[in-house]
Amino acid sequence: MKIYKIAVLQGDCVGKEVIPEGIKAIEEVSRVDGSFKLVTEEFPWGSDFYLKYSQMMPSDALEVLKGYDAIYLGAVGHPDVPDHISVGQFIFPLRQGFNQYINLRPIKLLPGVECPLKNKGLADIDMLFIRENTEGEYGNIGGTFMAGSSRETVLQTNIFTRYGTERAMRYAFEQAGKRKGKLTSVTKSNALKHSMVFWDEVFSDMSKQYPKIETRKVLVDAMAMFMVLKPEQFDVVVASNLFGDILTDLGAALQGGMGFSPGGNINPEKEYPSMFEPIHGSAPDIAGKGIANPIATIWAGVMMLEHFGETRAAACLLKAIEEVCAEGLVKTADMGGSNSTREMGDAITKKVSVSY
Ligand SMILES: NC(=O)c1ccc[n+]([C@@H]2O[C@H](COP(=O)([O-])OP(=O)(O)OC[C@H]3O[C@@H](n4cnc5c(N)ncnc54)[C@H](O)[C@@H]3O)[C@@H](O)[C@H]2O)c1
Repeated sequence: MKIYKIAVLQGDCVGKEVIPEGIKAIEEVSRVDGSFKLVTEEFPWGSDFYLKYSQMMPSDALEVLKGYDAIYLGAVGHPDVPDHISVGQFIFPLRQGFNQYINLRPIKLLPGVECPLKNKGLADIDMLFIRENTEGEYGNIGGTFMAGSSRETVLQTNIFTRYGTERAMRYAFEQAGKRKGKLTSVTKSNALKHSMVFWDEVFSDMSKQYPKIETRKVLVDAMAMFMVLKPEQFDVVVASNLFGDILTDLGAALQGGMGFSPGGNINPEKEYPSMFEPIHGSAPDIAGKGIANPIATIWAGVMMLEHFGETRAAACLLKAIEEVCAEGLVKTADMGGSNSTREMGDAITKKVSVSY
């Protein structure tokens, strides 16, 4: 029997509430399938750890996590820890250290979930965002000159390498070939004459290697507008780290809210573990109430199963999520209902054996 070792990082606030539901659901899939087993191990890292030890995770964390097939992450972010520390000392080191250079984010409206856009339905909201995940605007290069003085000057430099840009775009072209053969590149080359002109050149050069893929480039500001007015125009979308980050939160809104949007931080070559998480943050405003929607986290579990090559198990778990949404009998607060995080997790888990 195949065994997949999963490192579990619940993180902070609602991360601790949604991850147990995700584990319950994926363990049920493995039980029903019977051909593979999931072994999970939890690591209590995050902001609580920081408040005790002044670091978000131990210094040898990457060395420890290297031995796992995947990482299942809730979210980090805590009112008592500055965000640039919780995200900067946790999320970025994992994404960069494990060369998870693709951030994969499906934006798909589920049956029974209300779309906030008038006259748009299931056929209109179905995109796959590929966000470059290790460099660009989040390359973390910069510094402060004469801090605290009247001459204080801050530099934050973007880094776009040919190597990093090409590999993200190649992945996007390949994904477009597996879907509808349409790829949109998000740019801002009218204003960013170095980074984004370069981005466009790489996109244009690579399109010559994929003549069957229909390509389009759209300025990021226009993209935000088109995603609201004409979301049906988009299938696979490739974007830089910052633009992808922002637009996929808009995408999450189109699919019903942050509780529905999963993400995978992928190392396609599988030389390091990939990491799967809901794209939402730690939602301190609703933490501790047991009302967070666990669907994004369970869906991130679907992506993890896909990454393992367990395509049938992944499809069945997604079907279970879709059926629960379509039935509309169990709804969390963000869906207009009053069911708890656990009740939603239970409903989806129960559906797994039916959908197999
Ligand atoms: N990958 C990560 O761990 C990650 C990502 C984004 C933000 N953060 C951190 O999370 C903290 C909070 O950030 P924020 O408030 O900007 O974003 P957020 O995603 O945590 O919350 C935004 C809104 O969405 C709602 N929401 C989020 N998840 C939900 C769920 N599962 N079900 C129902 N509603 C949900 C929240 O209640 C809130 O109203 C910050 O510290 C931030 O840095 C972490």
